[in-house]
Order: sequence, then C-alpha cells, then structure tokens
Amino acid sequence: MKAKKRVGILTSGGDCAGLNAVISAVVEAADKKGWEVYGINNGTDGITETPHRYEILTVHNFSDSPWPRLSGSYLGSLNKGVKMESLEEMSKKFAQGVKDLELDAIIVVGGDGSMNIVSNYCKNSTVQVIGIPKTIDNDTPVTEFSVGFQSAVQVCTSAIDSLELTARSHNRALVVEVMGRDAGHLAMHSALAGAADVCLVPEIPYTIDGVINRLKEIKKSGRNHAIIVVSEGVKTENGSHLSDKKNMVGEAVYGGIGQYLCDEISKRYKEFQIRSNTLGHIQRSGVPVAFDRLLASVYGAKAVELLDKGEDNKMVIWKNGHVDSVPLAEVVKEGTTLLNTKSDYVRAAHDLGIYIGELK
Ligand code: F6P
Repeated sequence: MKAKKRVGILTSGGDCAGLNAVISAVVEAADKKGWEVYGINNGTDGITETPHRYEILTVHNFSDSPWPRLSGSYLGSLNKGVKMESLEEMSKKFAQGVKDLELDAIIVVGGDGSMNIVSNYCKNSTVQVIGIPKTIDNDTPVTEFSVGFQSAVQVCTSAIDSLELTARSHNRALVVEVMGRDAGHLAMHSALAGAADVCLVPEIPYTIDGVINRLKEIKKSGRNHAIIVVSEGVKTENGSHLSDKKNMVGEAVYGGIGQYLCDEISKRYKEFQIRSNTLGHIQRSGVPVAFDRLLASVYGAKAVELLDKGEDNKMVIWKNGHVDSVPLAEVVKEGTTLLNTKSDYVRAAHDLGIYIGELK
C-alpha cells in the first residue's frame, strides 16, 4: 500500500521547447506537498501498454539535473493519436494501467488533440486529470499561450534574421515555410518579429499577384532583397492543398507550399531570384526561451494546486497575464484556435505594409 499521493505526468503530441521545465515544476511543487511523481514514458503508451513504462522523478534525480533547461521531452512523447473506433478499448487499457500503477492523478502536457484523447480515456477511470497546454502551433483553445510557442517564434525569427543577410548578399527574395498546421500564429508572430515583407497564413486568402505587387514595391523603393513567410497550412492560389496526405489518425500532413510559391512567383516575375527554405522540425527544438520557462513554472505549480484542491478534468490557461483553469470539456468543444484576422497582430502587419493577403 502506498502512503503518499501519487501523480503521473506525461507529455503527448509533437514535442516543443519547455516540456522538461514543466515536468520539473510539477516535481518541485509535488515534492512540497510530500507527493510522489511517476514520469510516464512515451505519452499514454506508458500506461496503456504492458509492461507499463515509467520512472519515479524526484527533485534530486530530475529537477537538479540539466534537463529542465533543455528542449525535447525527457519522458518521450507520442504523436499518433487514436482512431475513434478503438477509443473504448484504449480507455479500458488506460483505466487498468492507472489501477496497476496506483495513480491518484495524471497531469497531461499536450495540445488540443491530446486533451481530447486523454479526457476520453479517463471516462472509465476515477483518476484526477489536469491538462497543461503545449504546442508550437499555439492553437490550443481558451489559453492565450501554450508552452513551446514563444521558443518556436524565436527559432523562426532567428532563421529570418539569418536568411535576410544572405538574401541581401544575393539580391534575392527568400521564402521561409514555417509550421503551425492549420493556424497562422507561428507565421504571423515570427513575420512581425522578423520584419518580413510578406506573411501568408491559412486564415487569409491571397493572390500570387498580391505577393508580386509587394515585391515590385520593394524593388521600386531601391531595396534588392525580400523575405516571404508562409505557413505550412496555406493553400495554393486556387484554394486547394498541395496534397491530401494524412497521418495515421487522419490529420493533414503539410509541406511544400514554400516551393510552390517560389515556382509560381518566378513564372510571373523575374526581377528577383527566388529560393525557398523549409524550417521543419528544428522549430520544435532549440533553447526554451524565458517566457516558455515562466509559463512552465506557473502552469506546473497551478496544476499541483488544482490537484490539491481536488479539482478534476481541468486545463490550466494563461489569460490577460493571469494563470487560471477551465474545464477540459470546454477546451475539447472548442477544437482549435485559429489566428484571429481582427487581432492587433494582423492589424499591425497590415499597417506596417506586410502583404498578408486579401483581408476583407
Ligand atoms: O503540431 C505540431 C507540429 O509541429 C505541426 O506544426 C506540424 O504540422 C506537425 O506537428 C508535424 O508533425 P510530425 O512531427 O508528425 O511531422
């Protein structure tokens, strides 16, 4: 029989910078309560598969190590989702795993998809569940910021800075394709921070001629280089995605819109040599920036506080400079938060002369 409250923590979905800082904050806060923390390996697989995979995390063996300062996930993550038809089966396995490990509570560090999966799994279990939002896409509903987003913005902005210097040397227009899935937050934030000339996001339609007109303006002003940021989820000019490739849970897999733009612009406008760069998974790594580590600390502490108060099925959020919590059901119901085309970010981009498409 265990004497202490036992909390499991797992990271789920695509990794991002700041996950280890979240784990560390949970370990520290739980330690102050005298609780035990089980770090579950490889997302929910560590619970649903046998033998279960976990390790006991302490301030001594984890928080005092260099890991909290590093990106990646010490615990490993899982980005394969679950098919709806196997949900019932999986939730039974999950309930059994929770029982075997004698977990009183689980903290899930994940995005919108992971919150959905885990809240479904927990329907057959009495375990307390608290979610902590993380994703470079920043599309988890209700919260203004998810852990990992600001670090990814930093990676993209640094890439734009580097590309601007080579664009300048070669009198080129360089296209930078960034991640974000169906949401343009990462593209818009890094385009604003990196002073790009064009920023195309899935939420706003555009024309190739609109992009070319911006390039012509730049040429006319006497500048011989330009930066075009494009979000991976942007469609072709005629409104279709480049491919209908899907991952194993039916989510769209994007990539290639940067090269498409490059090819289409080059066909119609020859004044700039154009090249495309795809940043890829490097956006999920790098040094976790201070704001992500701050979020990690306050989210970790809040999650433990909520468990201590007996709260269940909640996700911690950041709103107007405060940390709070909302029911997981509300997060699941909302799905994905896209870029608000009426936001200050979009307005600023427009007012600064960045071509952001044909905004109504
Ligand atoms: O959701 C995070 C994310 O990095 C998206 O921006 C991107 O589309 C996707 O994951 C890539 O997934 P994978 O790691 O399966 O290539």
